[in-house]
Amino acid sequence: MSFPWAEHYTPKHPAMQWIDEKLPLPRLVYNAVGAGYPVPRNLNYFWNFGVLAGLALVIQIVTGVVMAMHYGANTLVAFSTVEQTMRDVNAGWLMRYAHANGASFFFIVVYLHIFRGLYFGSYKAPREMVWLLGLVIFLLMMATAFMGYVLPWGQMSYWGAKVITGLFGAIPVVGEPIQTWLLGGFAPGNASLNRFFSLHFLLPFVIAAVVILHIWALHIPGSSNPTGVEVKGPQDTVPFHPYYTAKDGFGAGVFLILFAILLFFVPNFLGHPDNYIEANPLSTPAHIVPEWYFWPFYAILRAFTVDFFFVPAKLLGVLAMFASILLLFFLPWLDTSPVRSGNYRPTFKKFFWILVLDVVVLGYCGGAPAEEPYVMISQVAAAYYFAHFLIVLPLISRFEKPLPLPNSITEAVLNRYNIQGEQDALPGMGSDPQPSNAG
Ligand code: HEM
Repeated sequence: MSFPWAEHYTPKHPAMQWIDEKLPLPRLVYNAVGAGYPVPRNLNYFWNFGVLAGLALVIQIVTGVVMAMHYGANTLVAFSTVEQTMRDVNAGWLMRYAHANGASFFFIVVYLHIFRGLYFGSYKAPREMVWLLGLVIFLLMMATAFMGYVLPWGQMSYWGAKVITGLFGAIPVVGEPIQTWLLGGFAPGNASLNRFFSLHFLLPFVIAAVVILHIWALHIPGSSNPTGVEVKGPQDTVPFHPYYTAKDGFGAGVFLILFAILLFFVPNFLGHPDNYIEANPLSTPAHIVPEWYFWPFYAILRAFTVDFFFVPAKLLGVLAMFASILLLFFLPWLDTSPVRSGNYRPTFKKFFWILVLDVVVLGYCGGAPAEEPYVMISQVAAAYYFAHFLIVLPLISRFEKPLPLPNSITEAVLNRYNIQGEQDALPGMGSDPQPSNAG
């Protein structure tokens, strides 16, 4: 903890004193999410999504563990045990719908969390490790969601598994043995279902462990904030509790209301109707699509339609799809601007919104049939995606002239509300532009 003015934990109740002496867990909680953790006073609602992602993870684990009690990981019964859970188990329908829609909500919240980081430059020093661990979480989430979708053993489960594991088959020489090894056979079957179930149960706990590291790494420098200017003293922070427990509590309320609307009124809105048909290896669906949260990556995969010399198009697509995520691991070193927040970077801000639009277009094309004009649009959008990170960002970092930064968080807050008197009363608060402040 790098804030010398953080409140120290002094247990009031004798029972708490006793526990804290033997195992300083109350102290840990107090310093992590209690009054002992000073947080910038100007965080906006975009800083709610980390806690909301944690809430989504808890919902997934609780509903998933209950569903596992009624699930049979065998191709002969998997589909019917899921239906049975929906119809015959007390509140089984609720558990299933909450788990399926919970996955979508988890991705919505995490995508907002990632784009918040991209806009406000949260990936920059000294928070690179927070960003890198976040990406590890994201990869684990994708693997978990993919395997979970196979479990109900519907048509999309089966054919999705076939297409995605088939991607590994594109790797020269070792591809096919890898594909067979992953599936435990030549096509998705009982062995695949068993191993996917086992890993789907395990990975959320691995995610939870990486989340702890993610928050640990965050608490070393503390949260960034919408100005991107670092905390300079106690006047720039407020204790996490009660200020941000209240703000996060409000965010959680909105999240739960929206979640309940989806769950109780349109629970199948985000699902695919073909997954209510049991898997049939002899009948290929007309249009195989993954879940919506994979669409941007699926569009990049399908954007490659011609071989490049001796490299087959399919392999190029697979490499580009993995590269589109691996690229993000290098982001802290691709964007070299000393200014963090997009609020003070006029050119960066414009290109940030172009990137958002680009990812939405990729997502739309990934969910559409693999035909024109979607393939051509995917090609242009995929090319822009890579150009954004590899060419545009490094160039902007070099040539952009940032706006003057406030001298401190407090100055930014008080200027916003025109509170001149209070500002004058605070020591060392000039209004000179100081772009180098961001570092
Ligand atoms: C299970 C998924 C995740 C959970 C539970 C989680 C949790 C959190 C929490 C509680 C915070 C502090 C509050 C906030 O800033 O919103 C945070 C901050 C952060 N997270 Fe995550 N996170 C997750 C995934 C990710 C992913 C996928 C990324 C990026 C690839 C990421 C990048 C960051 C960054 C850079 C910060 C620091 C933000 C700042 O202070 O400006 N996180 N995360």
